Amino acid sequence: MAEPRTLRVGITGVGWCASQHIAAFQKNPHTQVTWLHGRDEWRTRATLAKNGLALPDVRFTTSYDELLANVDVVSITTPNHLHAEQAVAAARAGTHMVLEKPTGLDEQELVRIRDAVRRAGIRTVVSFELRYNPYLRVAHWLRASGRLGAIRFARTQYLSRVTDWYSGWNWVRTRASGRSHLLAAGCHAVDALRWCSGLEAQAVSAFHTHFTTGYEWPTSIAVNLTLEGQALGHVTSSTDFMMPYSFSVELMGDRATLRQDLIQWLDEPVQVDELGASCPVAGVRFEHAMDAGGRPAIRIRTVMPDSADVTHHPFQEEIDDLVGSIFDSRRQPAIDVFDAQKTMEVCLAADRSAEHAGAPVRLPLITD
Ligand SMILES: NC(=O)c1ccc[n+]([C@@H]2O[C@H](COP(=O)([O-])OP(=O)(O)OC[C@H]3O[C@@H](n4cnc5c(N)ncnc54)[C@H](OP(=O)(O)O)[C@@H]3O)[C@@H](O)[C@H]2O)c1
Repeated sequence: MAEPRTLRVGITGVGWCASQHIAAFQKNPHTQVTWLHGRDEWRTRATLAKNGLALPDVRFTTSYDELLANVDVVSITTPNHLHAEQAVAAARAGTHMVLEKPTGLDEQELVRIRDAVRRAGIRTVVSFELRYNPYLRVAHWLRASGRLGAIRFARTQYLSRVTDWYSGWNWVRTRASGRSHLLAAGCHAVDALRWCSGLEAQAVSAFHTHFTTGYEWPTSIAVNLTLEGQALGHVTSSTDFMMPYSFSVELMGDRATLRQDLIQWLDEPVQVDELGASCPVAGVRFEHAMDAGGRPAIRIRTVMPDSADVTHHPFQEEIDDLVGSIFDSRRQPAIDVFDAQKTMEVCLAADRSAEHAGAPVRLPLITD
């Protein structure tokens, strides 16, 4: 059946993150937010007002089934423990979806989502939205275009400090809903490592520790990974970090190395003009630079993933990508539930390893 020209959008879990999904849908010319689902209408409308969102004609329901019966696309922005059940119900209703991370909290949930989406043939995008950040796109392009050579080592870091300033503090800090640091937050760093390096993990060994009070789970984790092609990977992820928030990417290839915003090379220099002329990512400049030791380098100037604020995240690009893929069946969103499942498996394996004093856990956890 042909998709209607304007897609009706429903949102479940109207909070901090949903505010930016709604703003992005409002700017997409093919979507209209028509229904909201929550536990309390007054609170939901107050959240809209607090975030400067005007949706005068939007309808509200406390029934998720009623929401699904009336929309073409749903954004699932509820606390983590509700994602899988809501995603499966959306797939069964034939509703396209934006699914917030983490997609599922264990293998059973991941398999249920995979099977339901497969059967339904709907479009999905998962909010590993850093895949739309210009800097990460440049990192991905440098590696995928061969400019770094074969990747030998990849490292990503997510360092933040999430405490009671956060609107979701009451649920995120619990095992029942937040579940673990990697599942609740650090999965962004795991996804960036997979996507930027282009290499899947074959095994992980991890250690975790606990500093910030209030959390029911360990708040920092260091994950070592063996990757395809005999490469190694490392993810450091923490919510114990002092401000400012930082997110970093390093890709060491056998030709050149990317260290956050600096590119350096081994034998054959990377040419700044050639990069500028070839780079497919808009809003990026490459400049001659020096590293701290006075060695030549190229600096990337673009929007960096340097804020934890949802207003800084590229949700517009993510939602435009989903909508584009709904209208054009040949297009795939940059990150759907099947791809995101692999990121979630690495997170689950790392948590399992850390619970067993770093004992290696082999991947994948789920076979087809
Ligand atoms: N991709 C990203 O970068 C990013 C950034 C931030 C958050 N997120 C994700 O987005 C999701 C929501 O996070 P958030 O920061 O928006 O949290 P939030 O501000 O707490 O919003 C979640 C909303 O869900 C509703 N809700 C439904 N059942 C609930 C329950 N049992 N307990 C608490 N709230 C419930 C609440 O609205 P009612 O009370 O009105 O029902 C609440 O406003 C999480 O999965 C999080 O991981 C992703």
